Amino acid sequence: MLEKCGYKEYAESAEYIKRLIGSTPDIAIILGSGLDRIVRKMTEKVVIPYRDIPNFPVSTVSYQKGELVFGMLAGKKILAMNGRFHYYEGWEMWQTAYPVAVMKLLGIGKMIITNAAGGIGDNVDPGDLVLITDHIKFMADSPLRGANLDEFGVRFPDMQSVYDREMMNTAEVIAKEYGISVTRGVYAYMAGPQYETPAEIRALKTMGADVVGMSTVAEVIVAAHCGIKVLCISCVSNKAAGITGNPLTEEEVLETAASIAAGFETLVTEAVKRI
Ligand code: HPA
Repeated sequence: MLEKCGYKEYAESAEYIKRLIGSTPDIAIILGSGLDRIVRKMTEKVVIPYRDIPNFPVSTVSYQKGELVFGMLAGKKILAMNGRFHYYEGWEMWQTAYPVAVMKLLGIGKMIITNAAGGIGDNVDPGDLVLITDHIKFMADSPLRGANLDEFGVRFPDMQSVYDREMMNTAEVIAKEYGISVTRGVYAYMAGPQYETPAEIRALKTMGADVVGMSTVAEVIVAAHCGIKVLCISCVSNKAAGITGNPLTEEEVLETAASIAAGFETLVTEAVKRI
């Protein structure tokens, strides 16, 4: 296991990014699978490949996107993560959330975290957008495991108000105005990379999960630790395992994510304007 790095490494990453972007972003956005089109709507862009940032985790998989995109969206300064780090790729949990702590050092206080997820709940169907109210993470270690970095937050952070109610209410108002269907739900983290078994999905449903995915929660925990407010939006790309009996494929996940792109982009763009 690769030991968690210290505050100095985070600070070096942040210094490098600060020099290139010159000012404090208003909001950070982490883009999930198939949800990266919003980057095209940004203007005055500065693109920073992860590989250029000191101490950033760098993927050796060449097809994977990995860049920070700084620019304007809806009159706000946005720092978007185009490409994120997943535990199933082999990263340690703390590495998957490394950029979030760097964003804190850039002065960012609000973050929109997005993902593609499987729908578990009876009322959660492919194409739906779900505002995440809470999560279940019983798998893999905590991104905060290891020496606590007191510069970021306390050893034992409270997890009861992690998903910001005000931003969620704003997102619901926007969805109503634009006729975008959104619900609220609980996200269950699974380590992957295999999709779940039908028995696992039945277990998650019994535990109170509405959607399931392989990302997001480590980032949310680090955001909670360092005091970044989070709005989390899941795009439901498929019914979870065992519900329809159809095989789950990455193609389906990406296709459905692309098909909800318009509503998703409207919701995120308006949210950026109003939060
Ligand atoms: N399970 C886990 N992760 C996912 C799924 C799923 O059904 N769909 C999209 N990401």
